[in-house]
Amino acid sequence: MESIDLKDAYLKFFENKGHKVIPSAPIIPENDPTCLFNTAGMQPLVPYLKGEPHPEGKRLVDVQKCFRTNDLDAIGDTTHHTFFEMLGNWSLGDYFKKESISWSLEFLTKNLNIPIERLAVTVFEGNDIVPADTESADIWKSVGIKEERIAFLGEEDNWWPNMELTGPCGPDTEIFYWKGSDTAPEKFDPEDENWVEIWNNVFMQYNHETDGTFVPLKNKNVDTGLGVERVTAILEGYTDNYKSSVWKDIIAKIEEISGLSYDDEKNVRSMRIIADHIRAVVMISGDDAGIKPSNTDQGYVLRRLMRRIIRYAKKLNIDINSDWEQQLAEMIIEKYSKYYHELSRNKDVILQVLQDEKIKFSKTLEKGLKEFEKAINGLEGKEINKDIAFKLYDTYGFPIELTEELAKEHGLTVDIEGFKQKFAEHQEKSREGSKGKFKGGLASTGEMETKYHTATHLLNAALKKVLGEHVHQKGSNITAERMRFDFSHNSKMTDEEKEKTENLVNEYIKMAIPVEKLEMSKEDALKLGAEAMFIDKYGDIVTVYKIGDVSLELCGGPHVHNTSELGHFKIKKEEASSAGVRRIKAILE
Ligand code: ALA
Repeated sequence: MESIDLKDAYLKFFENKGHKVIPSAPIIPENDPTCLFNTAGMQPLVPYLKGEPHPEGKRLVDVQKCFRTNDLDAIGDTTHHTFFEMLGNWSLGDYFKKESISWSLEFLTKNLNIPIERLAVTVFEGNDIVPADTESADIWKSVGIKEERIAFLGEEDNWWPNMELTGPCGPDTEIFYWKGSDTAPEKFDPEDENWVEIWNNVFMQYNHETDGTFVPLKNKNVDTGLGVERVTAILEGYTDNYKSSVWKDIIAKIEEISGLSYDDEKNVRSMRIIADHIRAVVMISGDDAGIKPSNTDQGYVLRRLMRRIIRYAKKLNIDINSDWEQQLAEMIIEKYSKYYHELSRNKDVILQVLQDEKIKFSKTLEKGLKEFEKAINGLEGKEINKDIAFKLYDTYGFPIELTEELAKEHGLTVDIEGFKQKFAEHQEKSREGSKGKFKGGLASTGEMETKYHTATHLLNAALKKVLGEHVHQKGSNITAERMRFDFSHNSKMTDEEKEKTENLVNEYIKMAIPVEKLEMSKEDALKLGAEAMFIDKYGDIVTVYKIGDVSLELCGGPHVHNTSELGHFKIKKEEASSAGVRRIKAILE
């Protein structure tokens, strides 16, 4: 079964069980500056898991674009990926263990034709909060899973996400598949590597509060997650994910472009890295958030991925100046547009981003590599010093991680601390040199974007005054040209309300209120009544921006220093976004 069929089959199956198919949320979380990427299917659904009604109802299903950087070094092996797709189905206070478990088994055995003899499950053994989950174990037995194939495990394995993170959580039951070529052993041993986890069903019933307590959620929810890449490889019988239908056309294209073979040990790692990273780059640059390569945040991740691709393409002797990256990107856009419409919509942007970054880096890569060779030839000891590392970064555009990787390949290390120190000194110097321009080291956030960030807080505050305290931010999107702001409100705004809001924001601007950046514990911030969209995703110490008495919001910034810097605020459009959510498009002029 090809990956495309797995996704279709999954969505269809749960649609038939009364679920509403919702689109993937953007890979860049909307309006949450503390979190760079969506890392799980449930992440965009946190407010609903906490009890807010979802406009599409109580049963949801989707395929979510996810991206994780924690495995970056592992990319190149057979099973790790940066970008991946997670299938998930949710019950928001609707069905619970019985349906969740029996539907999972039905889908695996009836729709994917996995023999039940190849399946085993784990359930929670219990702790101070909940007793052992014999209820789930009994349900598993009632649908045909033998007792020897059920293991009771503790918090480490069967509590999601874990006991430390705050936010919605709960015990889970995990489904394992026997990937060995022989018959699966009668008794399930979770330590045996031939048993691989394929699906996680979390029974989200608690909220882990910042004070450490576990408070029952308003609803008993179900949150499940099943990784497309892993399950596809399993279904197709591969131990190397890159041989499955998720990747094989991309790998074939890399073989065609390079004229080399994936089966040759020498090429395999480079090809996997290129395949993994190019798909991630397409997904990140194709997101509506409009991320461009830069030296901070998501832009930096994008740059790192892109430059790593280019380096590995060079290793495969690909002619960097040819259109190799466009060919690969076009193929990926084509393949994924069915699920992620933004990719076809933003196709030109994606291709441009890739080309620009390639041109930028290919000019200096060659010279930088020579510089690196020169440096290591004259090296005394085993460490690349901070001056070389900084020169490679500053003059040749080598992300520090790339220098580290090169060093490692030669059995060397890099003076990272020294590099950081030099980097900070350099930042300070260039800040001093750009007085009057935006200061703060966030090279990717231009002057206009910064102004729009602050305008967002003022608009949020003004809407609360004009429409009422029920108004909360539901999303935002900022470019240098305009801002988009989504908020909770049930009806179309009247012309009078719009005018009032606009006037109020302009009044705040005229009042020349200083914008203060404060750091405090999350608890204090909440006590002070600070606005926050996804409170659980913030750490214990939070950054709060205070604009006089007008606004207090948890936010990563950046912001202007004084509201007077914003100019004139104008609402261009007010429209429905989704049920109960309105959208304002506005500009500063
Ligand atoms: N949220 C659960 C996971 O990501 C389903 O594993």
